[in-house]
Amino acid sequence: MKALVLAGGLGSRLRPFSHSMPKQLMPIANKPVLAHVMEDLRDLGVRDVGVVVGDRGQEIARALGDGSSLGVRLTYVHQDLPRGLAHCIAISRDFLGDDDFVMYLGDNLLTEGVKDIADEFRALRPAAQVVVHPVPDPRAFGVAEVGDDGRVLRLVEKPRTPRSDLAVIGVYFFTPAIHEAVAAIGPSARGELEVTDAIQWLVARGDDVRASTYHGFWKDTGKVEDVLHCNRELLDGLKPAVAGDVDGTSELVGAVVVEEGARIVRSRITGPVIVGAGSVVEDSHIGPYTAIGRDCVLAAAGMEDSIMLDGARIHSVGGVHGSVIGRDATVSSQARTNRSRIVVGDHSSVVVAA
Ligand code: G1P
Repeated sequence: MKALVLAGGLGSRLRPFSHSMPKQLMPIANKPVLAHVMEDLRDLGVRDVGVVVGDRGQEIARALGDGSSLGVRLTYVHQDLPRGLAHCIAISRDFLGDDDFVMYLGDNLLTEGVKDIADEFRALRPAAQVVVHPVPDPRAFGVAEVGDDGRVLRLVEKPRTPRSDLAVIGVYFFTPAIHEAVAAIGPSARGELEVTDAIQWLVARGDDVRASTYHGFWKDTGKVEDVLHCNRELLDGLKPAVAGDVDGTSELVGAVVVEEGARIVRSRITGPVIVGAGSVVEDSHIGPYTAIGRDCVLAAAGMEDSIMLDGARIHSVGGVHGSVIGRDATVSSQARTNRSRIVVGDHSSVVVAA
């Protein structure tokens, strides 16, 4: 089985970060969302992965390279404009050939993985298998009506009055039958080739299309709140490991990772927290639920439930929570502050009033 990972998308909901990086590279628990996706795929035994990229393709290729560090072989496919998920399948035809494949939206995080569902697909080989998850309001998703035997009776993209609470989430399994369907459909009202329409075309033709329910944690990392939520979720499974320096006056409590070359000085860190390689934490209280990238500096800072991207600095700002500080951004204050929520993009500089 091959995989097709979709990493085009503009990421407008993840501004300001998506101004300067593709949203699929946003670090969650110090690893880009796409790296989490590749790990999931590797766990399914998939090695050949096509990555559909848009204008930001070069940055993605720079971050992931040929995939060897992630245990996969990557082939990049360029999409000129976001023309829909089914369009991504059409332009990847050479890469996909006549193999079965799993399609994975590159901004989706499924912490439990989909190994069981992949096994089911391999055993039964229906024309297509979608992954569904019950949600309170499915109107923003593809919605599946599913029979008692797991067969899909109908799929509708973003219905106004959903006939079930089963949202189609970002992972799909296909046999080559999908190529015929993709060639047969036309653009939707939003002008895109919808994969939902292609799958519904198979259903209407009488092909076997199945749905499996994923019960674990799932989120599309579209907004800053979602990114922070995913960060908490992934940090919950953190195993403590200290490779950097922790001085005698500092205290680490719970699951704390201090990567190589990081230094903790006169500070208290309450896990789960990762301090990335080369970062310095001085006279600070950090955690819980905080991921600090590489080469960051935190001095006289208090921070919890937050993400600092590589090279970010924070000085004399306390009570920072629910915050994301962009790459090489600086946040400081003349006098120590309390309770701030700060979301600043890459290379920004913010001085917080005391
Ligand atoms: C796309 C699909 C939709 C699916 C969703 C999952 O929606 O069209 O069927 O439920 O991904 O995240 P989009 O994000 O393009 O609106």
